[in-house]
Amino acid sequence: MKKIILIISFLCFITIFFYNCTKKIVSTADNNTAPKEMGETNPNGSSELALLMREMDKDSWKIREAIEKNQNIPDIKDKFAKLHTATPTEIDKKDATYKVMGDAFLVSVDNLYKANSKEEKLSAYNIMVNNCLNCHKAACPGPIVKIKKLFVNQ
Ligand code: HEC
Repeated sequence: MKKIILIISFLCFITIFFYNCTKKIVSTADNNTAPKEMGETNPNGSSELALLMREMDKDSWKIREAIEKNQNIPDIKDKFAKLHTATPTEIDKKDATYKVMGDAFLVSVDNLYKANSKEEKLSAYNIMVNNCLNCHKAACPGPIVKIKKLFVNQ
């Protein structure tokens, strides 16, 4: 009996913890096209970090397009690095895990610019998207479906 109560309170805790981030973000995109602008109905409101993340999502589509068309990858390094300083909706979203995940993500962003061939760039890009996912699995699962659309089939 004690165990069951423990499990139930754990589930409640998880639900409350993730509430703000679990409301799905509406996306009109098909699998392989960049999503349209998001409306003002966004559940996370417009914290500095939420706005940055929306930009990062759009920029990732631009990076993907540039690689596919053999063009120069737009320089977004300084912008993405702001994920460490931007204010989130809830301050406890940015804990130690966030910092580690954020650093790992930024390393994978750097690697984009070090890759030479198109294949290498696409792999580096997919690794970057995977790092978006890793942080979101830990901190903010709501946008996961949307992020997965960024992957390129290789
Ligand atoms: C280090 C952790 C971390 C990484 C890496 C990360 N995110 Fe986020 N993301 C968050 C957190 C936390 C929020 C919630 C922000 C808030 O509510 O203030 C968020 C919010 C979002 C949102 C919802 C924004 C809104 O409208 O409310 C989208 C979309 C998103 N991220 C996409 C991405 C994409 C795409 C990448 C990779 C290019 C990425 N994220 C990388 C932690 C991360």
